[in-house]
Amino acid sequence: MTTISSVLEMQRTADSVRLQGKRIGVVPTMGYLHAGHLSLIRIATQHADVVITTIFVNPLQFAPHEDFTRYPRDIERDSRLAEEAGTDYLFIPEQNEMYSSNHLTYVQTESLAEVLEGKIRPGHFRGVTTVVAKLFNITKPHVAVFGQKDAQQALLIQQMVRDLNFNIELNIAPIVREPDGLAMSSRNVYLNPEERKQSVLLSQSLLMAEKMIVEGERNSQIIKEAVTKLLYSQPLAVIDYVSIADASMLHEIEFLSSGTTALISLAVHFGKTRLIDNTIVRIS
Ligand code: PAF
Repeated sequence: MTTISSVLEMQRTADSVRLQGKRIGVVPTMGYLHAGHLSLIRIATQHADVVITTIFVNPLQFAPHEDFTRYPRDIERDSRLAEEAGTDYLFIPEQNEMYSSNHLTYVQTESLAEVLEGKIRPGHFRGVTTVVAKLFNITKPHVAVFGQKDAQQALLIQQMVRDLNFNIELNIAPIVREPDGLAMSSRNVYLNPEERKQSVLLSQSLLMAEKMIVEGERNSQIIKEAVTKLLYSQPLAVIDYVSIADASMLHEIEFLSSGTTALISLAVHFGKTRLIDNTIVRIS
């Protein structure tokens, strides 16, 4: 595995890989890699000849009060894990390499970016789509792999790729979970033992929602109330949102009619840590 930190060197490397007729797969990450990231890298190896993993904690997607400075970082461990999972090139740019002091151009995907995560974290998705567009232009991939864990991010990137004609195939990989169901996230490391214990409720409440639907419940409000009640059965949970929305445009759904594909998503704080999780349900 070769580590590259310069944008120009990454672009030249990508050009030369393309000239050899090889397919490039990219896995954009913010580092502190866990089994979820490693599954994305492994998926990329199945769809490309050369895999580039990027590690960049993107300041543009954090609000001033968020965890940019304390976001966990461990480049040595990440390098080892990324290589073991099949990365050929690790792109780790410095902040000034990605954003010059007179950076003025941003990518903004409207409406989809203004609900759920975007409503609670204004400006977050503008930061995500801007950096992902830049990473696409730097790594020149044929295929890019993202996780379903960040469901809204995946939708926005799909929309951006269509709207801006990026000639890139997107692969959205399933959520990887801890044995007790907690979705893997770099931020799980922030949880203290009691918060970690209670956080298992996220996946349990999604399973309960799925079960209610399987058993015939079609009223979203009733499902959301049951989920809220279950989450609040633990004293540390503070809910940002419980949403049942159509899985393509993220409009909230009142009644789950047959043929609907719904995204059930949650954002919940446990102490200082904010966790998200989701599931997609197809109503037959
Ligand atoms: O999902 C993430 O880790 C980040 O949002 C991404 C896509 C790497 C952009 O910074």
